[in-house]
Amino acid sequence: MTPRPAPAVLAAAAAIAALAVAAVAVAVAADGVKGDRELGQYLSSECVTCHQISGRYDGIPPIVGWPEDSFVEILDEYRAKKRENQVMRSIAVKFSDEEIAALAAYFGSLKPKTD
Ligand code: HEC
Repeated sequence: MTPRPAPAVLAAAAAIAALAVAAVAVAVAADGVKGDRELGQYLSSECVTCHQISGRYDGIPPIVGWPEDSFVEILDEYRAKKRENQVMRSIAVKFSDEEIAALAAYFGSLKPKTD
């Protein structure tokens, strides 16, 4: 029979495991702030039913090629009901900070077509 580890050893192992989990969580959170472009592309399918992916204006304002922080700020304003549009308010509230950062990263990476 193998000797059982002393409780102190088990506690130390648990503490190390908890630290490892915390480190991963921090890494993920930091990534979320930067914005995960692939997640943004996935989430963008709803947006492009109204907003032109080409960046052309067709009565609905274009949202491609913006600086990420302005994009996040505007969606925050819809979420906080500081901007009037009811459609965008109800769309914006559905997304978390991480998802909005992801959308900002994706749309920000697209170039508006000018021709
Ligand atoms: C049902 C149509 C529709 C959908 C779907 C939609 N939008 Fe909009 N969006 C609009 C309209 C209309 C406006 C202009 C609102 C206004 O005048 O405030 C707008 C405005 C915006 C603006 C501000 C543009 C500016 O120049 O001020 C941003 C940013 C935006 N939408 C992002 C998104 C994102 C991101 C999604 C997907 C998660 C999305 N929209 C989905 C219709 C839509």
